[in-house]
Amino acid sequence: MAYRNLLSEDRGAIRTITVNRPDKLNALNGETIGELHIAFEQARHDDAVRVVVLAGAGEKAFVAGADIGELATLTPIEARARSRAGQSMMRGIETLGKPVIARIQGYALGGGLELAMSCHLRVASERAKLGQPEINLGLIPGFGGTQRLLRLAGRSAALELCLLGHPIDAARGLELGVLNRVVAADKLDEEINAIADQLAAAAPIALAGILDTVLTGGECAIDQGLDYEAQSFATCFATDDMREGTRAFVERRKPVFSGR
Ligand code: COA
Repeated sequence: MAYRNLLSEDRGAIRTITVNRPDKLNALNGETIGELHIAFEQARHDDAVRVVVLAGAGEKAFVAGADIGELATLTPIEARARSRAGQSMMRGIETLGKPVIARIQGYALGGGLELAMSCHLRVASERAKLGQPEINLGLIPGFGGTQRLLRLAGRSAALELCLLGHPIDAARGLELGVLNRVVAADKLDEEINAIADQLAAAAPIALAGILDTVLTGGECAIDQGLDYEAQSFATCFATDDMREGTRAFVERRKPVFSGR
């Protein structure tokens, strides 16, 4: 499908989806939110896709937030619908069942940080700037920022970023656990490609089990989480990939996973 605001490119089993509004620092207008929803649903149902990289076009920004020009005109009813549309698209990313890596080369502000936090791994250039500046607009984050920042970095960091609205640099983002890795700007693609290649070669049903079990575990009591883990662990034993992985270890060779 042709998108007006996105680019989509495959390299083997790795799909890169790029928000492509660089003149607006890739701000998320309603149309872009809708296209991201469709693009991730397509990635979910395409068995050839095992890993997704989510990027923003240009040098300056991953995504500089929700489109403020559009937000400014919304009624409360429309604002609720816009919040729900963004939340639902991002929840779709979080529950994709395939690893999604956010490539953060510059600003990830407001809806941009919320989008990055719905991904499973965040790899940033040392030039990246992160923040929830909605307070400066008389707003609160509306695409899951209050909830995911709390879960990723704890209440103290979530309150600091949302209440003060100051951007933080990549080093502080790493320190807070919001980022997984920070590298020099000219090493960003190399780092992301290496992670994506590793994930693309891994056993997809086990990857999906890890994503699902960690996400579920974050929302339930430990006994339920452990039960869930045991069920997911057992499911792996029904896969060819588990047999291949354990056999390859015994035979001292590299496993070749089929996805079955
Ligand atoms: N929504 C709509 N347009 C945006 C935008 C957003 N969130 N962020 C940037 N843009 C647009 C600017 O309006 C400008 O468009 P124009 O050239 O047509 O005027 C263009 O992107 C470039 O941005 P500009 O502000 O000129 O770049 P800068 O380098 O001076 O500043 C930022 C960069 C990120 C600090 C600044 O753009 C900014 O503060 N953006 C808003 C961040 C925000 O509050 N996000 C949360 C929204 S809920």
